[in-house]
Amino acid sequence: MPATDVLPGKRLSLADVEREAATVLDPVHADFFAGAAGDESTARANLAAFERIRLRPRVLRDVSARSLATSLLGRPNSMPVLLSPTAFHRLAHPAGEPATARAAEAAGVTMVVSMAATTRLEEVAAHTTRPWLQLYLQPDQDFTRHLVRRAGRAGYGALVVTVDSPVFGRRERDHRNGFHDLPGGLRCENLVDDAGVLRDIVMDAGLTWDAVARLRETTDLPILLKGVLHPDDARLAVEHGVDGLFVSNHGGRQLDGAIATADALPGVAAVVPQGFPLIVDGGVRRGIDVVRALALGATAVGIGRPVLWGLAAAGQDGVREVLELLRTELDEAMALCGARSPGELGPDVLAPHLSAP
Ligand code: FNR
Repeated sequence: MPATDVLPGKRLSLADVEREAATVLDPVHADFFAGAAGDESTARANLAAFERIRLRPRVLRDVSARSLATSLLGRPNSMPVLLSPTAFHRLAHPAGEPATARAAEAAGVTMVVSMAATTRLEEVAAHTTRPWLQLYLQPDQDFTRHLVRRAGRAGYGALVVTVDSPVFGRRERDHRNGFHDLPGGLRCENLVDDAGVLRDIVMDAGLTWDAVARLRETTDLPILLKGVLHPDDARLAVEHGVDGLFVSNHGGRQLDGAIATADALPGVAAVVPQGFPLIVDGGVRRGIDVVRALALGATAVGIGRPVLWGLAAAGQDGVREVLELLRTELDEAMALCGARSPGELGPDVLAPHLSAP
């Protein structure tokens, strides 16, 4: 059947949105969004690892009625896709994080708001239901507690603590471009303290599991750790009462040479309890990548750069477009695999040598 709904020039994939974004973004900012640490080998590996996974579809299963709906920490999500935290949305588009939040709301998915957002966390939360707040735990524990209290008051549904950043990854594109500060008028709004002083985000190389235990005692909000790749760390997280994990290498922006997330996922999935929220991000660009991730044991996937491409290309509508492209692709991929819902996707749809950890 011919594809009658395809208009010339219409964006058909996230890659098309990426190309569109490149035409409007300042090249230095485009490099900040695209770049990764060192030789950027992990950023490439994330993409390659998903692509390498071959699917083994089932047939004749009546997939005429399908639903992508799922639930994350008790919040209904229209599909198992969420917006991973990314810094500086106003660098991509003047409408910034509120536009992203409205698109997430319209699409019925959870937005994780970066600590390095260019909009106050309260304002972002006014545009979307129960977002999650990403935090780098600060050496000044009072300031971390202050952010946690603000998140609770503003209706955030969870805290996402990024643990893959004891030091800042060396992103050579930014060094080469001399990109160290936000341009005039933009700042990390959540880093303004009660005294009106703009703080720096400190990467605390001294953090240990004690910090997770302390945070656990400070708040009733669910806590997820972001940046866990090793099964032993996943076990420790469960032991420390953590409510979920992001299997993530920060899109390759921290340790270059780190394992691709699709390769790390089965090992982590094997050691966490059944049903434990496991989100994987890094290199998810297609509906089939979502299928692959779910089949490998993820509860949901996160997308980072594609959100920024959508925002740059067309603001709120662009983020919505990215999410709807993924939704359409995921729905088709699920049908073609013989599944009617995300819960029906398991190791069975993977080529056999890829289903073991
Ligand atoms: C990020 N990421 C990130 N992670 C985090 O915990 N806090 C942050 O502030 C940011 N900021 C950020 C900025 C930019 C420009 C990028 C590209 C990424 C990492 C992000 O949450 C996620 O892990 C990756 O982006 C996922 O990989 P993909 O989807 O970009 O391939």
